[in-house]
Amino acid sequence: MQKKIQQLLAMAVATKDKAYAPYSKYHVGAAICAKSGKIYTACNVENMSFPCGTCAEAGAIAAMVAGGDNGIDAILIVADGAELVYPCGACLQRIAEFATPQTTVYLATETEICKTYQLKELLPYNFVAKELKDD
Ligand code: THU
Repeated sequence: MQKKIQQLLAMAVATKDKAYAPYSKYHVGAAICAKSGKIYTACNVENMSFPCGTCAEAGAIAAMVAGGDNGIDAILIVADGAELVYPCGACLQRIAEFATPQTTVYLATETEICKTYQLKELLPYNFVAKELKDD
């Protein structure tokens, strides 16, 4: 388990360093351990038209789905420096789509995991419209 978490951190950091963030200069990496055990990573990708930019978490979720997985066991987010990145509101909702309230969210610096949350602590309520799921 500890080895898997260290692997998540190493992979998130390596991906963070590839971030395309010429406007904010804020580099973010996310690594997802999917239910299958596979790890998916992504970084933030900004755009000159600012709203077109994408968060690291959104990219990692897209990679996970494209890789054939649709369940998040744990997600780790890392940025440059000592400041922890708390997933933005939109990304919490994105994570919730593929997670449970108990899903683990790790916030890390480049060298260590500093905070461990269950998703429900960061997003106690998320948008759920049961009728959208009806046949
Ligand atoms: N960012 C993320 O990648 N994830 C978050 O949860 C918050 C913000 C990125 C988006 C943008 O490229 C930069 O950080 C500054 O907002």
